Amino acid sequence: MTDIKNGFALITGTTSGVGLNTVKPLIKYGWNVIAVNRSNKRAEQELNKILTNGEMKNVSFVEMDLSDLDDVRDGSKEILDKFGESLKIVICNAAVYKPRLKRPERSAQGFERSMAVNHFGHFLLIHLLKESLLSSVNKVDLKGKLSLFTPRITILGTVTANYSELGGKIPIPAPADLGDLRGFEQGFLAPISMANGKKFKPGKAYKDSKLCNMITVQEFAKRYPQEELICNSLYPGCVANTKLFRDTPWLFRLLFPLFQKFITGGYVTEKLAGERVALIATSDRFYQTGVHWSWGNRQKSRRKAFSQRLSQRIVNPDTSKKAWELSKKLVGLT
Ligand SMILES: NC(=O)c1ccc[n+]([C@@H]2O[C@H](COP(=O)([O-])OP(=O)(O)OC[C@H]3O[C@@H](n4cnc5c(N)ncnc54)[C@H](OP(=O)(O)O)[C@@H]3O)[C@@H](O)[C@H]2O)c1
Repeated sequence: MTDIKNGFALITGTTSGVGLNTVKPLIKYGWNVIAVNRSNKRAEQELNKILTNGEMKNVSFVEMDLSDLDDVRDGSKEILDKFGESLKIVICNAAVYKPRLKRPERSAQGFERSMAVNHFGHFLLIHLLKESLLSSVNKVDLKGKLSLFTPRITILGTVTANYSELGGKIPIPAPADLGDLRGFEQGFLAPISMANGKKFKPGKAYKDSKLCNMITVQEFAKRYPQEELICNSLYPGCVANTKLFRDTPWLFRLLFPLFQKFITGGYVTEKLAGERVALIATSDRFYQTGVHWSWGNRQKSRRKAFSQRLSQRIVNPDTSKKAWELSKKLVGLT
């Protein structure tokens, strides 16, 4: 397909935090944005607070609850029908983190909920949109300038899912580790709640889901040449005051941002995090597949993004192939 269209960038979870703050810079770079959320009404209300009326005209809304695979299928169909030919970027941003649960919450399909939202919902979404991404117009109109653009998938990763970094080794409740993936292999339904089939640890369930996100990027990069599809992940920094931490104890919510600002130096504002996501997803500077981009754990002004070394738990070819195949099976793609 060669005709020229406005470029569309899809992003999940724009009602708060990093996702909300990614929309404005995407528009600034000339992209039309498809905001995918559980509630269009809330998404519109929140974006109205930070975008001008002119900018709002560049946003389309699609409702999708990532915890329900049927909803992901319906929403994906709507996206393909309306924007399929011009979809160039998919940013998987939405997530839940519920570290205080005593028992696992379950998704519509019966999966542990943080794995369902953070990994399975996105895994199915990008698989359903993939063919369209690959065959969409090759030139897009960005602010009146025609640009060749290789389709991209950008997924939010995190330091706590990468055992190669100090933050990934924190033993509370346990580092991210999919083990032998027995939980996935056995169908991941109750009483199973963890990928490795072991005892439920809610904080680890989140880390494991982000590990799956980062593995997905690596597998996509292996399976598609860079000239066809760029797949990358990033750690935007510690955005310590987003709603992601809404289910942590109030004292943690009070102290964590201060700790990150004044002790570790890892703190990043929501605005800066959003700008970083938009850059990684769109800029020529990040034209490289299979990279996990980071600005480090101690923020320094003028520091440039670098390719973060990843742990064996992310890049081990046997684990990642197995995680990919089992995820396909669990979301109903095989
Ligand atoms: N904050 C950090 O320090 C940090 C660090 C590294 C990586 N990250 C990553 O950055 C991303 C954004 O996190 P954040 O800190 O900005 O969190 P946030 O403010 O809580 O935003 C999460 C977004 O996900 C949406 N969401 C939750 N459940 C959903 C579902 N079932 N279906 C569709 N959307 C759903 C939320 O929408 P609702 O309003 O409907 O709940 C919200 O828009 C996540 O992937 C996170 O892992 C964050």
